[in-house]
Amino acid sequence: MATKKVYIIYYSMYGHIAAMAKAVKQGVDSVEGVEGVLFQVAETLPAEVLGKMHAPAKPEDIPAANPSTINEADGFVFGFPTRFGMMCAQMKAFFDATGGHWQKGSLAGKAASMFTSTASQGSGQETTIMTAVTQLAHHGMIYVPTGYGSGGSMFGLDAAKGGSPWGAGTLAGPDGSRQPSAAELEQAVFQGKNLATVVKKLTA
Ligand SMILES: Cc1cc2nc3c(=O)[nH]c(=O)nc-3n(C[C@H](O)[C@H](O)[C@H](O)COP(=O)(O)O)c2cc1C
Repeated sequence: MATKKVYIIYYSMYGHIAAMAKAVKQGVDSVEGVEGVLFQVAETLPAEVLGKMHAPAKPEDIPAANPSTINEADGFVFGFPTRFGMMCAQMKAFFDATGGHWQKGSLAGKAASMFTSTASQGSGQETTIMTAVTQLAHHGMIYVPTGYGSGGSMFGLDAAKGGSPWGAGTLAGPDGSRQPSAAELEQAVFQGKNLATVVKKLTA
């Protein structure tokens, strides 16, 4: 049986989503016969603006996502930081470039899940993913939430934690200095594994 491909397509300005994406790939790769492939979507902001936002250079070892060829994937995990409680414009621009697939229905029936990052608690962990479900719905894709399957850290109240049943998440902190915690990375790994398992069943 040919290896199934899960495209992990993300945007990350300060690296939090990029770190979570690597954990998602670890989870996808843990499922036999499924491989996670990382892609980053194109930047839409001018260099001058990025400079004022103190955004570091993007990693050069992660290829650019090509909206025209994403139908080659068997399933998807999309990762994006919140902007005022919704997906960032860079990811939306990527989805806006998938109209050809919408016309042909070439993404319909494919499984997809999503993860996010916010600066603080209660500021978009759930709404960012919930409002992004529209993108999947219009393509006829199958949204796969993570639920509570990642275990104990979903219920812990002793430490601040991103993520929700809608998908994994991290809290970057108001100045972006906080890095994804072990519990957040654990949910990201679970998300990759969960999605890969669903893809394997759907494409069997
Ligand atoms: C224009 C803008 C809007 C933002 N809106 C929110 C918000 O609504 N809630 C929040 O917690 N963080 C907000 N943030 C913070 C980002 O979500 C945070 O920088 C991001 O999650 C870090 O992820 P990254 O390192 O992958 O870029 C905003 C940042 C910018 C630049």
